[in-house]
Amino acid sequence: MGSCFSVHLTIENSRNDVKVTSATVPPSPRSEDEILQSANLKSFTFNVLRTATRNFRPDSVLGEGGFGLVFKGWIDEQSLTAARPGTGTVIAVKRLNQEGLQGHQEWLTEINYLGQLSHPNLVKLIGYCLEDDHRLLVYEFMSRGSLENHLFRRSSYFQPLCWNLRLKVALGAAKGLAYLHSPAAKVIYRDFKCSNILIDSNYNAKLSDFGLAKDGPVDGKSHVSTRVMGTYGYAAPEYMATGHLTERSDIYSFGVVLLEILTGKRCIDKNRPSNEQVLVDFARPYLSSKRRILHIMDPRIIGQYSSDAAIRVANLAVRCLAREPKYRPTANELVKELEQLQELQKGSDICRKETGRKHNGNKKVGCPTLVGSRGGSI
Ligand SMILES: Nc1ncnc2c1ncn2[C@@H]1O[C@H](COP(=O)(O)OP(=O)(O)OP(=O)(O)O)[C@@H](O)[C@H]1O
Ligand SMILES: [Mg+2]
Repeated sequence: MGSCFSVHLTIENSRNDVKVTSATVPPSPRSEDEILQSANLKSFTFNVLRTATRNFRPDSVLGEGGFGLVFKGWIDEQSLTAARPGTGTVIAVKRLNQEGLQGHQEWLTEINYLGQLSHPNLVKLIGYCLEDDHRLLVYEFMSRGSLENHLFRRSSYFQPLCWNLRLKVALGAAKGLAYLHSPAAKVIYRDFKCSNILIDSNYNAKLSDFGLAKDGPVDGKSHVSTRVMGTYGYAAPEYMATGHLTERSDIYSFGVVLLEILTGKRCIDKNRPSNEQVLVDFARPYLSSKRRILHIMDPRIIGQYSSDAAIRVANLAVRCLAREPKYRPTANELVKELEQLQELQKGSDICRKETGRKHNGNKKVGCPTLVGSRGGSI
């Protein structure tokens, strides 16, 4: 084995999310050339991506993460040339602005995993650009942006999702996770959070960002790693404390996202009163009774769910957030439970109006949809 290298970075993005990236990064099991050659991906020139995004125009920006801006662009997939806006294939181009090893390592890890994995609930990586200092990634465009935008952005561009669509998105994300944890993939995702759950025009959820992913435990054995990487608020307590990592750490993060879906509140918010800043701690006492859960539900979806459905999702969150990882459900169990909940919901009249209607582009119909540019219809 070659030598390991250490990097110590704390990366903060515009939402003040703090990524934990104090890391000892082992050498990749495959060389960079091997990864780039074996991935079934297209290699783009910087010039093509610059033209495709209209010179990385500010009004093409879809969002920003710790590693750079994400732009909307257009390409011709056959010729791999830039296309005129509104023609060809719509893409999302992530441009890394992080210099140094960490950004490059995550860029390569993303290619390593997404170049090999394929599932309807994982975002599709179309290609990449590696030219001089430029590191870019080219993804399928997810027209409704991230779950984070829908839950937390207070603007006319992003409307809050209704209850049924929240369940649909949670189910899609659970299916993505179940695939990652399956014997076919054996991947621990490590960065499950609202901003990494992207939503397409039909509200199908797809997981993105595999820069922190890691090969999963073989035969149920767990990793003990000096690496602690993820996002504060979502990372499982045992992982934060000891670096002890199993696929059940992803399930904890799923539980945090379920709480965010229920309450419409971010998992950590320093602007809330001190006892409410950490959502998991604040919400726990409210999660076990039908009466109490109503106190913390997102006021924007009042009347769209039965108290039975709300408490079932809350119970699922409680199980995911179990302090002892072995008591957390598997991703397959999450899928099953959320499918049952969806069936239950279909049988009830609540929110039927919203889902019974066809969603029509970005126009407001039934369930609220995007009505503006960012992440939607630039
Ligand atoms: N394929 C895509 N299609 C549409 N929008 C996207 C796509 N990928 C990313 N975005 C938008 O860009 C935003 C930033 O994404 P990015 O993955 O860079 O960072 P993040 O997940 O918000 O934060 P972090 O760096 O901590 O992972 C997303 O929240 C989303 O709104
Ligand atoms: Mg992301």
